[in-house]
Amino acid sequence: MFIVLPGVFHPRSDTRLLARTACTQPLPAGARVLELCAGPAYAGLAAARAFKGALTTVDVSRRAALNASLNARLSRIRIRAHRGDLLAPVAGQRFDLIVANPPYIPGDEPPARGPGRAWEAGADGRAVLDRICADAPAHLAPGGVLLLVHSEVCGPEATLAAYAAAGLEADVAARERGPLGPILRDRRAELEDRGLLASGQAEEEVLVLRGMAPGRAGKDGGT
Ligand SMILES: C[S@@+](CC[C@H](N)C(=O)[O-])C[C@H]1O[C@@H](n2cnc3c(N)ncnc32)[C@H](O)[C@@H]1O
Repeated sequence: MFIVLPGVFHPRSDTRLLARTACTQPLPAGARVLELCAGPAYAGLAAARAFKGALTTVDVSRRAALNASLNARLSRIRIRAHRGDLLAPVAGQRFDLIVANPPYIPGDEPPARGPGRAWEAGADGRAVLDRICADAPAHLAPGGVLLLVHSEVCGPEATLAAYAAAGLEADVAARERGPLGPILRDRRAELEDRGLLASGQAEEEVLVLRGMAPGRAGKDGGT
């Protein structure tokens, strides 16, 4: 059973792509999983279940943190659900898998409160992504995997370059083409003007960008 409390972001196709990708990573049983920007923790719970591991979540919304806790309890998965800003609540901790579906829609700066906190990500869509790319690699255990999902419109190459600059092996773990989501659709004219969407573009590619920390004994076989 999985619940989504009123006011918490509902998992969508990008969440499900992230969850499927997370569950197939070459990680050992008992992997420590962190989901950032977790909402109700759909992807983090799927991964913790797949690896029989423990889950830590962080979301800036108090209600989302409560929602993640409730879902973990329903799934009988051990969880530490933090309310806080990105990696601040897990200072000094390392994880075997970090996953996030952060706000990534180009538009307004991230607001301090309100529903837009779930998607507004600054002019280029990278306000939260860049912070995760800068800070998350230091929280990976040796051989750990970082997975971020986002649209092609907010610079997958910048995510891959940031991973490489942090010493991670970077690649695209999964990609899926589909119709523009409702918010991008509403902003189509503006995004076309700014060159972020091609004229008449009705579809987008959503990608899962993977960074792997050095240190795993057998990349394909786990340890
Ligand atoms: C696009 S929603 C994704 C929710 C969930 N991961 C999913 O895929 O269903 C983004 C989430 O990020 C959270 N968020 C936004 N800014 C944050 C920040 N600075 N630190 C932690 N969480 C944040 C929002 O509250 C929201 O729950």
